[in-house]
Amino acid sequence: MKHLHPRTAKIVENFTDENRIFSIKKPKWIGYTHAHTILKKLENLRDYPRNLRMPNLLLVGDSNNGKTILLNKFTEENKSYVEEASQEKRIPILMIQAPPDPDEKRFYNTILESLFAPYKSSEKIEMRQQRVIHLLRKVQLKMLIIDEIHHLLAGTMAKQRSFLNVLKYLANELMIPFVCSGTREALHAIQTDPQLANRFEPKVLPRWQNDEDYLRLLASFERILPLKNASLLIENSLASTILLKSEGLIGEISKILELSSILAIESGIEKINQNILENIDYTPPSERKKMMYR
Ligand SMILES: Nc1ncnc2c1ncn2[C@@H]1O[C@H](COP(=O)(O)OP(=O)(O)OP(=O)(O)O)[C@@H](O)[C@H]1O
Ligand SMILES: [Mg+2]
Repeated sequence: MKHLHPRTAKIVENFTDENRIFSIKKPKWIGYTHAHTILKKLENLRDYPRNLRMPNLLLVGDSNNGKTILLNKFTEENKSYVEEASQEKRIPILMIQAPPDPDEKRFYNTILESLFAPYKSSEKIEMRQQRVIHLLRKVQLKMLIIDEIHHLLAGTMAKQRSFLNVLKYLANELMIPFVCSGTREALHAIQTDPQLANRFEPKVLPRWQNDEDYLRLLASFERILPLKNASLLIENSLASTILLKSEGLIGEISKILELSSILAIESGIEKINQNILENIDYTPPSERKKMMYR
């Protein structure tokens, strides 16, 4: 089983088919060039000396292309802990999901909830804001990550502007970098405010193309798919079929490989080939969209 990672080879040797299929469905993280570059960037930002004009980052990418997974990975690598000397809780990185609409109060509530801090619905917005600032200082937060930022930047221009001002105020008070992640609309919204546009460096997670990085990604996937035979995904035309079907989104690539591996086990073929790829129950994202409008 030279085609497999040693841990995956063990799964193939010892697991029942059912358990192998179960293991395929579990989430996994595969490193790739763009992800490593962004993780490095996040580390640099985390350790950036505090000043009145902290740099921020805006992670932009199409849906299902790995933004949340990447930011989660970074957050998990920077777990909260209790500082021994002071016995105080420290939270180096806080990641929140923006509430579904640009409501300042709900935004603070999301932060308070993630800190397990109680709040009364009668509490005035200014009070709530000050408490958020106080608590985030107390845990010595080094970076705030806001996923799905486009939710906060929806609505009228005036509403967007007022939320951008909230972010600006918080960032200035806390003197920490903000990392926001969202769709292209978020990028447009931030670019409407010159002050913010200057401070938010956009980093794009592009769609995958048929290049070396993509082939490397496929090769990494193949090593952790518990199949008895080598599929040689990067050879013949398998790589291009997968890319075409997935429309260049890592979430789709991962889904196609998951469904194909399951079919490869169930059919006894034990490898992914063109026939398997044609027979999985899978609809490419743009087709799904068309079906919705039909
Ligand atoms: N590094 C990775 N290794 C393996 N699979 C990955 C990786 N990154 C993303 N995926 C797959 O892609 C899927 C989508 O990723 P994610 O949820 O991070 O997308 P997103 O860009 O946040 O999408 P949305 O904008 O819709 O929230 C994941 O569920 C996972 O299956
Ligand atoms: Mg996401």
